[in-house]
Amino acid sequence: MEDMQPRDIVGEGREYHWSYFDGTSRRLIVTNVETRFPTGELIVSQTDAQGIITMCNDAFVHMSGFSREQLLGTPHSILRHPDMPKAAFADLWNTVDEGTRWSGYVKNLRRDGGFYWVYATVIPKIRNGVVVGHTSVRREPSRDKVEELAAVYATMRAEEGRV
Ligand SMILES: Cc1cc2nc3c(=O)[nH]c(=O)nc-3n(C[C@H](O)[C@H](O)[C@H](O)COP(=O)(O)O)c2cc1C
Repeated sequence: MEDMQPRDIVGEGREYHWSYFDGTSRRLIVTNVETRFPTGELIVSQTDAQGIITMCNDAFVHMSGFSREQLLGTPHSILRHPDMPKAAFADLWNTVDEGTRWSGYVKNLRRDGGFYWVYATVIPKIRNGVVVGHTSVRREPSRDKVEELAAVYATMRAEEGRV
């Protein structure tokens, strides 16, 4: 994935050199600007077995700030916000790899450096006992839960050695 570019950022940004699970890394630029989840909408995407995005709806494109062309063929970690603890995604992958659906609160990174919170459900697609892909549906999160989870995730990040 490409480095985030200062020209795309809206607001005052902090820089991170971020490493992904697959060993790749890139520059992130992160602001404190929140975009609220659009009430009544659903953000939907599908992946192949490797977790690469194969389909995303208009709400996904709109909220992430990326074009559909930039999203298709890319892993969901393009949305990975540095405030999310590693353990949350480990739990997600362990759960769906067992063939079970996972739900949780996720803070996502936008192309412009801002963020948006979602309540996500990830459903593995199983054929002949094998996970062949996933569908993820994100709903508007409860504000109380967002406040609660932001604090929980900060504690988890500290336990992972990140402030
Ligand atoms: C169907 C599906 C949807 C996902 N959606 C997101 C998402 O919206 N935001 C996100 O940060 N990670 C999402 N993930 C998790 C990413 O695959 C990845 O594990 C995470 O971004 C952490 O990146 P890393 O594992 O490279 O450290 C999703 C995974 C699956 C299978």
